[in-house]
Amino acid sequence: MGASSALLSPAVLMTFLVAVGSLMAHPEVVTAKHAGSTRHYHFDIKLKNITRLCRTKSIVAVNGKFPGPRVIAREGDRLVVKVVNHVPNNISIHWHGVRQLRSGWADGPSYITQCPIQTGQSYVYNFTISGQRGTLFWHAHFSWLRATVYGPLIILPKRNESYPFVKPYKEVPILFGEWFNADPEAVINQSLQTGAGPNVSDAYTLNGLPGPLYNCSSKDTYKLKVKPGKTYLLRLINAALNDELFFSIANHSFTVVEADAVYVKPFVTNTLVIAPGQTTNVLLKTKPQAPNATFFMLARPYFTGMGTFDNTTVAGVLEYETPSSSSSSISSKNRPLLKPGLPAINATNFVAKISSKFRSLATTRFPANVPQKVDKKFFFTVGLGSSPCPKNQTCQGPNGTKFAASMSNISFALPRTALLQSYFFAQSNRGYTTDFPAFPLHPFNYTGTPPNNTLVTNGTKVVVIPFNTSVEVVLQDTSILGAESHPLHLHGYNFYVVGQGFGNFDPNKDPAKFNLVDPVERNTVGVPSGGWVAIRFQADNPGVWLMHCHFDVHLSWGLRMAWIVSDGELPNQKLPPPPSDLPKC
Ligand code: C2O
Repeated sequence: MGASSALLSPAVLMTFLVAVGSLMAHPEVVTAKHAGSTRHYHFDIKLKNITRLCRTKSIVAVNGKFPGPRVIAREGDRLVVKVVNHVPNNISIHWHGVRQLRSGWADGPSYITQCPIQTGQSYVYNFTISGQRGTLFWHAHFSWLRATVYGPLIILPKRNESYPFVKPYKEVPILFGEWFNADPEAVINQSLQTGAGPNVSDAYTLNGLPGPLYNCSSKDTYKLKVKPGKTYLLRLINAALNDELFFSIANHSFTVVEADAVYVKPFVTNTLVIAPGQTTNVLLKTKPQAPNATFFMLARPYFTGMGTFDNTTVAGVLEYETPSSSSSSISSKNRPLLKPGLPAINATNFVAKISSKFRSLATTRFPANVPQKVDKKFFFTVGLGSSPCPKNQTCQGPNGTKFAASMSNISFALPRTALLQSYFFAQSNRGYTTDFPAFPLHPFNYTGTPPNNTLVTNGTKVVVIPFNTSVEVVLQDTSILGAESHPLHLHGYNFYVVGQGFGNFDPNKDPAKFNLVDPVERNTVGVPSGGWVAIRFQADNPGVWLMHCHFDVHLSWGLRMAWIVSDGELPNQKLPPPPSDLPKC
């Protein structure tokens, strides 16, 4: 690699968001002619005391920040992030949505591509961002630590390249999170112990702040101060644990221009839905004159399941700056505060309508390389289930069992050593089997009356596919213990969403309706509640890649599986050996 190295503190990098142009002038970034720069970050994982909703508690945080620090790079840059664990918990960090081409060792999911970083240990994540630009995020990938360990990952276009839309006046990350008064680790551990659904969160947050609709939180409100007549790029990130969110700004619409770090055909809307693991860039054009009003930005859940959920609303404020000399306008404190309307909690048809608006640009510069022919087809069910209550225990899940979740009725058990290590070193005691079925072993009417037997099986089963296989996967929701929308996330790849629908997928009729021209390219897709979604990808990235529901509760219950993509023939189609500091289990 011809990449030169430069030391640049995150604090310095943060200023780039305010003035993107300054990046060009910054003397500390040395750039080779064609290759990108190398950007170094240091993440200290430490406990931090923080007060929300009138309670002070200790959280796991990065560099004393909540939400965590912004990581900024340009397309083509190399990121080198040293993560040092100073907390009692094990941890690992995932760079959500980064393709990690031949750098699977830096992907981050605990027990999949690495053993977690233990207390007092460190690990350097080293990877290059290629062919991606837009908004992603990073988060902890161990148990529920991502509740407080997350932050934006912003990929600017290459130097001298521009956005395929109007240059924004400012860029603003908007991170949605989920706040628990209790320790989130205690919440999930108790649920796994008793078999009951975990306690729901106490608030949603916008850039870490719950806002004035919660007790004791008016001072903890995110305020976006804007000038009239300007275009702002909002980088929306749903980092909540368990909830898809509707988002709207009173009296303003916005233009969607990018999703999961891929440009999309622009469309205008005043309401969005965003699932955990998804990111969306929108352009907000402010009114030509400062209005005599202030505007709420609200987010609250889209929920279709049967259990309980956090039915609260996070609010931030959009406030117009007025020149202090202007006498006509009322001071900002006395302006009326307008609220946007939001769809009903279970507005599934609205969600389907919005999702169908996302399309690839499909231009020469940004083509949609959707596989036109498929080498291997898969059909996986996703949904809830139960596992038996251990002897001498009483369980609080469905009918005295424990809640579980599965893909194709297999609840994925984490191995003791990272799968990628076992695979790469061809360990004899490898801790996984390669018999994850391409189709469910026991087909049933997936979205009809649920079967009486809701028990899942357990296993660490993977699918092995040769390098460069073109893959189609139909993900089918089931009605077992309630149909529900599931945001499915694939590591190591983007996929094209070629079709979706309600009810059971029909292999005879539905493929004829697939969009093979301009389907959206993403890393996380909502499987419609009581429906299915079809995705395609080209398996050109060797390694072990987790696919899972991005609701942490379902992830913990086993709604996950892994792909092993073998090496190709050529040297640049092989996964290099791991770095020497790869953590040990
Ligand atoms: Cu954002 Cu495996 O996760």
